[in-house]
Amino acid sequence: MPVINRIADLQPEMQGWRRDFHQNPELRFEEHRTAARVAELLASWGLEVHTGIAKTGVVGVLRAGSGGRTIGLRADMDALPMQEETGLPYASRTPGKMHACGHDGHTTMLLGAAKYLAETRNFDGTVHFIFQPGEEGGAGARVMMEEGLFTRFPCDAVYGLHNDPTLPLGEADIRDGVMMAASDRFYITIRGQGGHASRPHACLDPIVVGAQVVTALQTIVARRVDPLESAVISVTQFHAGTAENVIPDEAKLVGTVRTLAPGVQDLVETAMRRVVETTAAAHDAVAEITYRRGYPPTVNHAEQARRAARAAETVLGNGRVRRDMPPVMGGEDFAFMLLDRPGAYIKLGQADGARGAKDVHTTGYDFNDDLLPIGASFFASLVEQELPRP
Ligand code: NI
Repeated sequence: MPVINRIADLQPEMQGWRRDFHQNPELRFEEHRTAARVAELLASWGLEVHTGIAKTGVVGVLRAGSGGRTIGLRADMDALPMQEETGLPYASRTPGKMHACGHDGHTTMLLGAAKYLAETRNFDGTVHFIFQPGEEGGAGARVMMEEGLFTRFPCDAVYGLHNDPTLPLGEADIRDGVMMAASDRFYITIRGQGGHASRPHACLDPIVVGAQVVTALQTIVARRVDPLESAVISVTQFHAGTAENVIPDEAKLVGTVRTLAPGVQDLVETAMRRVVETTAAAHDAVAEITYRRGYPPTVNHAEQARRAARAAETVLGNGRVRRDMPPVMGGEDFAFMLLDRPGAYIKLGQADGARGAKDVHTTGYDFNDDLLPIGASFFASLVEQELPRP
């Protein structure tokens, strides 16, 4: 069975919702308009709607039959602080804000599944439709959990998805175990002694020290981490100085660390502290590092990954669900939900020739609307599979 027929009929309506979200992007924890629209639609189909969880999070509850089984389906709603340059007729109307990760599509696919399941109720139990704020750096999933998400709305298992521009439309990717990396941030300040650039011997140049810190940090991945393990250290900002003839007092470095295993994460953090402090000390400078742990690795539970793969195969066909692709070093805050509940996270391909193939987090990205009925059918099929009627 391909896409569910009734959901295929919903495609134009879903596309309307999606493009409306796309035109009106909202950043983390400011998704007021989006959340209001989600709540309005869910209520119009007869779902019980709860709003204001983690500020703008929404949960829709749908019950059918008398069974006690429960399932949670999660979508993210937030956009990114970027200037859209797609030139599309439905491009962002808000300068500097853009749906560049397809969360407009994720929200729409979950809405499509909710509409279909509310009409058909061909399941037995309770479905919790979880619309979360702040996936992009806000840990909105964790905030919803801190505000009692899984005690107020118990879920035997929880499932999430993401579009994937590197995978063809009609294919999916789901692994047992780790899917996405832990994502940490670091902030380094190197304090030297500024002065006239013609008299470097009378100064302590923080730029030269900073350059050596950047290089030394790369030796951690190259020489400290087991070659069979994975780690990324990227210095993404280097700020210092105000004039061409002044050595500044300090330099600031900012960046990100990605790892797949907790032991590697610990090793990298410890090694970075030592390398930063000792490299600076070798030049009589002082360096401080603030290391902030962000999202943990996104780790699928094997049993739920198998169940999600089966539902995806129902929609996409045999052999269209890849089970052997490597994890990626991006981070994802659905990881917090998978630490608390059994569940799985799946990626759905959206590349169709040139369409839908621009990478996420680029100014030319757009969600491929042909994926809408596929994602909605996946969620709906998963519910009918996991909460079957007696
Ligand atoms: Ni995303």
